[in-house]
Amino acid sequence: MKEIRALAPRAVAGGGPDVDSAGVCPRISRKEGERTMALTSPNGTPITVRPIKPGELDRVVLRCWPDRAAIDRLFAGQGTIGMAAWEGHKCVGQLHCYRVMLPDGTNPDWPDNGGNWWSGRKVHPEWQNLGPGMPGLGLEGAGWFHSCCHVGRTPEIFRNEIRRLVRGLAQEIGWDAARILDELRKLYVYHTSLGDVENVIKEAERSGLSEVPCGDPDPRYLGRGIGTALCSASIQWAREHGCAAVLALGAPDGLFEFAAWSGHLPWTAYAKLGFKVVDTGRRDDGLSNWAQGDSPPEVMAQVEAALAAGRPPHEFRERLMLLKLKP
Ligand SMILES: CC(C)(COP(=O)(O)OP(=O)(O)OC[C@H]1O[C@@H](n2cnc3c(N)ncnc32)[C@H](O)[C@@H]1OP(=O)(O)O)[C@@H](O)C(=O)NCCC(=O)NCCS
Repeated sequence: MKEIRALAPRAVAGGGPDVDSAGVCPRISRKEGERTMALTSPNGTPITVRPIKPGELDRVVLRCWPDRAAIDRLFAGQGTIGMAAWEGHKCVGQLHCYRVMLPDGTNPDWPDNGGNWWSGRKVHPEWQNLGPGMPGLGLEGAGWFHSCCHVGRTPEIFRNEIRRLVRGLAQEIGWDAARILDELRKLYVYHTSLGDVENVIKEAERSGLSEVPCGDPDPRYLGRGIGTALCSASIQWAREHGCAAVLALGAPDGLFEFAAWSGHLPWTAYAKLGFKVVDTGRRDDGLSNWAQGDSPPEVMAQVEAALAAGRPPHEFRERLMLLKLKP
């Protein structure tokens, strides 16, 4: 994720996108003072945001969505798997969404990548009384949950990410395609086949281990309001589909490297969209694991700078953000 350091200057600030009644943002605009700025790609092309349809799957970067059978079940059960941002025909952002019946339901098709409570696999103790079957939220009905959000992850970048991952794994564990595929699954990469891995191996045999282009999200797309627009379109979807609430994890403010690494918008961005913070911790809570070194160097650099500036440990945790859609 080193490239994320070289973020483009932010193009937009404040305000939320205008979403039409179909939940589609044909040309999302954001207010900046008196001016209205269109949501655009780094080269000025308008970005559109809309719910993902089954017919678009070959153009959406599926990366950490679950396997195809689970995706089909998600479409059948919840209508869409999330929101996508488009620069023309190119998908440049994705927000994963999962529907869960509150208070007791879970969504077994929501992969537990370590941070997804309500996935049905595991109750994360850090969420105290806010997991499935727990009364903390006081909500009943369908909850629409935001999982990870990726901006600047295009199909081409995803192909490069896989090429780099396969080559890196091959050097660690050997050039056995099936073993490499197993390791990829452990990294939550579900949409790469044995044939894809074999092709990367063949390519490496042909060309040697020459450098493959970067597979990290294109930093030019970050900080342009695309993540916020994906969330707004999702809220609109949830409203139109009878959901009682939208829930999301908000990264701590002022630690954008963590937000980019975890794929969660800062909690402040959710607050601007009308979400409230659900208190999920205590003031005497210690530092989260990721703030104690279980995260990449660029995340730790920001953590250490914030600690040195006197920021208290309990602020280094994600917040559960809740937008009630019904009284
Ligand atoms: C986290 C992410 C989804 C945010 O999307 P985005 O389009 O860049 O964000 P937006 O422009 O809508 O801004 C959302 C918030 O982030 C903040 N932000 C955006 N860029 C920032 C930057 N360079 N520095 C500090 N804050 C920044 C904004 O200020 C805004 O917060 P605010 O409303 O409180 O001001 C996006 O950066 C991303 O996809 N990162 C990579 C995620 C990824 O693939 N991770 C891999 C592992 S899952």
